[in-house]
Amino acid sequence: MNPEPLPPEIITYYRQAGEAARLLGGAGQVELARTQEIILRHLPPGRVVLDVGGGPGVYACWLAALGHEVHLIDASPMHVDQARVASGRQPGRELASARVGDARRLERPDASADAVLLLGPLYHLTQQPDRIVALGEARRELKPGGVLFAAGISRFASLFDGLFGGLFRDQAYVAIVERDLTDGQHRNPTSEDYFTTAYFHLPHELAAEVTQAGLTVLELLGVEGPAWLLPDLESRWADPRERERLIWAARSVEREPTLLGLSAHVIVVAQNRR
Ligand SMILES: C[S@@+](CC[C@H](N)C(=O)[O-])C[C@H]1O[C@@H](n2cnc3c(N)ncnc32)[C@H](O)[C@@H]1O
Repeated sequence: MNPEPLPPEIITYYRQAGEAARLLGGAGQVELARTQEIILRHLPPGRVVLDVGGGPGVYACWLAALGHEVHLIDASPMHVDQARVASGRQPGRELASARVGDARRLERPDASADAVLLLGPLYHLTQQPDRIVALGEARRELKPGGVLFAAGISRFASLFDGLFGGLFRDQAYVAIVERDLTDGQHRNPTSEDYFTTAYFHLPHELAAEVTQAGLTVLELLGVEGPAWLLPDLESRWADPRERERLIWAARSVEREPTLLGLSAHVIVVAQNRR
């Protein structure tokens, strides 16, 4: 097991990437809206939620504002600081806690959470044994009947992003995508904004890893559907009726096995039945 939660290139990437704003524009808006609707399907009010890899706290603060007791853990001290600032902006509905930590060693009591979010660590843990350990930690945290939301990046995300974004003019990008398609190991040796070290899952692989960690899969879902690829996404998202149509499109194909990998992200919803 790699003892360092975040390799240096991931730290450098997030220092420059502006993760706090990512979900507020472009395809991030689709990801946010759809992830929120998936979480709400399975999370009754007033629960204890652990957001592991919660980053700058967009989901954690939203859930705290809804009245949940939310604890955020992230490997990036910068993101934890940002989450604390965001939490401070919602007096009376702050995060219950926010601290630096590793998804593979949560250092919290067993069976203490109704829900665990793992929306990030699984794709930055590039080796399967590390991902199984992180999933096992999530399971240990969950009360019996508690629910896990675990996100992966689709094996085909960089292929579609490159096609629709005109990135294949750059031979370095072609090489990155070729490796992604071969073994899912995403590496970016360039200084371009082609994301950073990650593992891109085949959707069914993510579900298999969750099962291997002892959880029962309830749903395996494509998050964004086709909407994230639209060149005019920004203007269509700005129109409430059109936005609803884009979300409806994603919802319509969310469980279709042959289309799961079309989304940039897949989410497994799973339950701790022990
Ligand atoms: C793309 S961000 C996602 C943030 C947030 N969950 C979201 O969905 O918007 C990925 C986050 O996972 C965190 N992360 C990566 N590996 C981790 C690990 N082993 N333990 C805890 N956090 C980790 C990173 O620091 C980063 O904040």
